[in-house]
Amino acid sequence: MRPIPFDGIAMGCDYNPEQWPPPVWREDVALMREAGVGFVTLGVFSWALLEPEPGRYDFDWLDEVLGLLHEGGIAVDMATATASPPPWLTTAHPEVLPVDAAGRTLWPGSRQSWCPSSPLFRKHALRLVEQLARRYGSHPAVRLWHVSNELGCHVGKCWCDVSAAAFRRWLATRYGTVEALNEAWGTSFWSQRYGSFDEVLPPRLTPAIPNPTHELDFARFSSDELLGYYRAERDLLRELSPDVPVTTNLMVTSHQSEQDYFSWAADLDLVAQDHYLDARLPHPYAEQAFCADLTRGVAGGAPWLLMESAPSAVNWQPVNRAKRPGELLLDSLRHVARGADAVGFFQWRASLAGAEKFHSALVPHAGPDSARFREVSALGDALRRLGEVAGSRVRADVALLHDWEAEWACDLGSHPSSQVRYLDAGLRWHRAVTELGATADVVHPSADLSAYRLVIVPTLYLCSDATAAALEAYVRGGGHVLVTYFSGIVDENDHIRPGGYPGAFRELLGVRTEEFAPLLPGEFVSLDDGSTADTWTELLTVTDAEVVARYADGPLPGTPALTRRAVGAGTAWYLATWLDETATAELADRLTREAGVVRLGPGGGVEVVRRGRYLFVLNRGPVAAVVRAHGVDLLSGRDVAESVIVSGGCAAVVRQDEA
Ligand code: GLA
Repeated sequence: MRPIPFDGIAMGCDYNPEQWPPPVWREDVALMREAGVGFVTLGVFSWALLEPEPGRYDFDWLDEVLGLLHEGGIAVDMATATASPPPWLTTAHPEVLPVDAAGRTLWPGSRQSWCPSSPLFRKHALRLVEQLARRYGSHPAVRLWHVSNELGCHVGKCWCDVSAAAFRRWLATRYGTVEALNEAWGTSFWSQRYGSFDEVLPPRLTPAIPNPTHELDFARFSSDELLGYYRAERDLLRELSPDVPVTTNLMVTSHQSEQDYFSWAADLDLVAQDHYLDARLPHPYAEQAFCADLTRGVAGGAPWLLMESAPSAVNWQPVNRAKRPGELLLDSLRHVARGADAVGFFQWRASLAGAEKFHSALVPHAGPDSARFREVSALGDALRRLGEVAGSRVRADVALLHDWEAEWACDLGSHPSSQVRYLDAGLRWHRAVTELGATADVVHPSADLSAYRLVIVPTLYLCSDATAAALEAYVRGGGHVLVTYFSGIVDENDHIRPGGYPGAFRELLGVRTEEFAPLLPGEFVSLDDGSTADTWTELLTVTDAEVVARYADGPLPGTPALTRRAVGAGTAWYLATWLDETATAELADRLTREAGVVRLGPGGGVEVVRRGRYLFVLNRGPVAAVVRAHGVDLLSGRDVAESVIVSGGCAAVVRQDEA
């Protein structure tokens, strides 16, 4: 990964000057300087203005804006402007529009209405990219290229005939022969055997349950297809603007999981991420922390760029919750603590018209004479003080495995319980660990695990033999691992691993399950250690493990629910139920203690993360927190002798004397 190409820990934002008359642009640059804006993302949705008719370009306004920004010392993340096609393109060529699984066209009138496999869309988009790259590829203000926007947002999959043909080509490359496809998809079932690739369609709306491997492969194809689109723009940019790094803004978030970003990482010069706090979630800050840790995992531990977040309200949620005073700083530092080397926002000035006019912005409708703008300026000042943090790396003792393919497969229909959602387990376990004051990396199952004291494997329904072998080697070498229920069930083709669950991990864990016994919504079960669980139980026997807790009631009283096996120099735990939050926290406490995981802070609402020699302390709670540290608090400039005292709702970033 290349370093984030802005100075220090920069504050930035999407800038959409095309929504404003030119006199406002000058005021914008002056205000940006006042607030401490170091970079802007420019032109994301400006295709229709830049190319008002096919092949006729108007760059004059963009030239002027770039000039003003450059004069103002503001770096530019230059968008390729291809996110939303102009109406002339979709009018002349409606075949570029995406089609859903029921065969309905998704029409223009909103944004991002294009089929990822359309060669015609790609041709027009690349023509614009070429113009932009030739014109601005060596402009001194341009430090980064921003391909399209949130690829896959709104249209991550398309079921049209063009996509169908692309899907068949992808399958032919993956399988070579149709016999291999039939084998992988288990098409002997329900008379689905294909005679040739030409007979295969995308998984369109069917009368009954679709073939799950067909669906899984379509998910893989769709992720690859958007990556292929990204590569096409990237290659052109590299050719015409070789000195400027290229990226696109990912959406590592719990409500969007259609791209396997681990497989995208090698093609990104740096990882950029958009994240919006989701007020609908039970623990929005925990989800934010999880996504930040996963973004760092995608970046292979390298610093990353928070491209977009919200300064306050988010209009696409049912209730547009405003950030409370002080929240902006803590939310932004949560990203920085977890590896972000810049903090970007959507957007600079709140729009007066259009679908996002009620989305918050750095300059609200009220104008710069507002508490929001003053808080933004204070954030700009705080981030400026943290400049020296840039480039440092987060240190974590715990790894939590995450795999988008496992998520796609786990969340397909017709499973033992629709209550089991892949991400729920990852989020709950991540929160349990971080609330203890420990730090977790969220990494792909193929990551090198050797440096971690504890590895958590939440609901890894689909896993390869290689993953199972790597975990076994990790434990034998002295590692501690926790595997939670519905893990290791199927191989990469979504075929059951027979002989008893949890298939791939049976030997490592020393357990064998004959039958699942999921609970109905509202049903609970008690364990004999006093904890409470719901959603899941299973008929588990131990073959070579110690029983730590059993179900006390429910469908399987007396059956093991939590087991532990000493393996080589390490320990392998199996949790066969869905513990409530309190019991999860207690088990996390025990596991982290036994594994010797370092806790940097008191936990709870006090988030403590270490980046290189910098200790971030974010106190979400109402009362002051005391955390051991020695050095200088970069935010206040005060010396810290033995411990730093952080008032409720405040933060400290201590440059520690010892690394
Ligand atoms: C995403 C998009 C932006 C904007 C925001 C609103 O980040 O990239 O264009 O729509 O969402 O939250």
